[in-house]
Amino acid sequence: MNVNVTNHPLIQHKLAIMRRTDTGCKEFRELASEIAMLLCYEITRDLETKEVDVTTPLVTAKLHVLANEKFAAVPILRAGLGMVDGVVNLIPNIKVGHIGLYRDPETLEPVEYYCKLPADIEDRHVFLLDPMLATGGSASAAISLLKNKGVKNIKCVNIIAAPEGVQRINDDHPDIPVYCAALDDCLNDHGYIVPGLGDAGDRIFGTK
Ligand code: PRP
Ligand code: URA
Repeated sequence: MNVNVTNHPLIQHKLAIMRRTDTGCKEFRELASEIAMLLCYEITRDLETKEVDVTTPLVTAKLHVLANEKFAAVPILRAGLGMVDGVVNLIPNIKVGHIGLYRDPETLEPVEYYCKLPADIEDRHVFLLDPMLATGGSASAAISLLKNKGVKNIKCVNIIAAPEGVQRINDDHPDIPVYCAALDDCLNDHGYIVPGLGDAGDRIFGTK
């Protein structure tokens, strides 16, 4: 399986608190955002830099800045919204697109209901954000949609991934890397990740 798991001690600690049944909406939201920020630090590790002249109070030195600043964060609604602030904190001028998908509770198939992306999305490095990669159906559909719009550079960024979801992305989109904070054990009969954290959207927005 091709997946990048960032199991930094701070991430493990924050995620353990997030998973707890007695963690409330406010704390859950804060933790989702903090983990997204830590993941963003990891996923941007391979970005290219270019040399520029920078004049400090002492000298002019050759230093490195990002070679390409065209990024887009694309959360899958709803739960992906909980990761946007963390990414925007690290990349303040990032553009944000939205893909609305919900998972049909019976068939577990993704249903698209909204899509609004930056006009030049095909020129951008896209970070596809969703806290949960379960069957992988939603992420796979979102990646297909982005590819159909001409996007070439996509990273799939999740807080928790199930092996089934990673396998699905590897099979459907072998060119797309998956990044997560934890690779859990399996899915249950209802398509929930085990041990997981329950329904991420409901916990972020307090809808249950
Ligand atoms: C959740 C989650 C993912 C999807 C993962 O969203 O945020 O988008 O399920 O499942 P999959 O990998 O099997 O497709 P949900 O459909 O519950 O919608 P919500 O974010 O609006 O709550
Ligand atoms: N969606 C969630 O929010 N949680 C899961 O465990 C699976 C899909």
